[in-house]
Amino acid sequence: MDGNDRFGEREMKIMFYKIIEAYYILRKKNIVHHDVTSYNILVESPEKVKIIDFEHSSVFEKKIKGMLQKVLPTKWVTPLFLSPELKTWTLLANTLSSLFIKYNPFKSDVFSIGLSLLDACGIDIKGLNEFGKFYHIHIKELLTINYNYIVNDSLRRISYRILRDELQNTINKKIEDFPYDFLKQTLRKMLEVDFIKRASIKSIFKHAKHFMQILD
Ligand SMILES: Nc1ncnc2c1ncn2[C@@H]1O[C@H](COP(=O)(O)OP(=O)(O)O)[C@@H](O)[C@H]1O
Ligand SMILES: [Mg+2]
Repeated sequence: MDGNDRFGEREMKIMFYKIIEAYYILRKKNIVHHDVTSYNILVESPEKVKIIDFEHSSVFEKKIKGMLQKVLPTKWVTPLFLSPELKTWTLLANTLSSLFIKYNPFKSDVFSIGLSLLDACGIDIKGLNEFGKFYHIHIKELLTINYNYIVNDSLRRISYRILRDELQNTINKKIEDFPYDFLKQTLRKMLEVDFIKRASIKSIFKHAKHFMQILD
């Protein structure tokens, strides 16, 4: 994917649909790609899109209960395109008592697809997955203890909201520069910092079908 030859809105809708459809097919097979970047999505034409580079991908069986899986992420992927939770994980890996974290790997890929789309349209995505460094300790708690515990504890909730809002505002400003207005709201849902609130690939696929006027 690159932004050199700019698509019209109709072509962009087709390309977006094809990309999301491909990741939705992976999701239905419980496959996490883990290295989603604009370089690993080949676009031959709006209709012909290929996801490549499955070196770091893995199958996640249906979770037993709860939203979040305890996962040992793979470290050797492209850092620029990681979700904020995984980027924090790579920065904290040396200090984590347990390298396993509780997060949703499929929603992590959704964030990376969003960053890939911004990047492909010429938007600088550097720093869009990094919390202020003073906040790492809170994110570490979020990833290693329990999301609800952190988000519902009043003091921690305030810190979490500040750090989330700071990064979210930066992301939202970048989305404003995105050249296709019809996709901005969808991108905002994909690039949600809070990984519980972030849209699933299934719900983004619904947006994609809506753009194509495909009825369920
Ligand atoms: N099926 C393919 N068709 C065309 N080009 C491809 C294909 N697979 C890989 N490439 C090219 O080779 C490059 C590297 O392949 P990739 O599988 O992403 O390996 P790496 O781990 O080095 O990133 C890609 O960025 C792409 O340009
Ligand atoms: Mg690659």
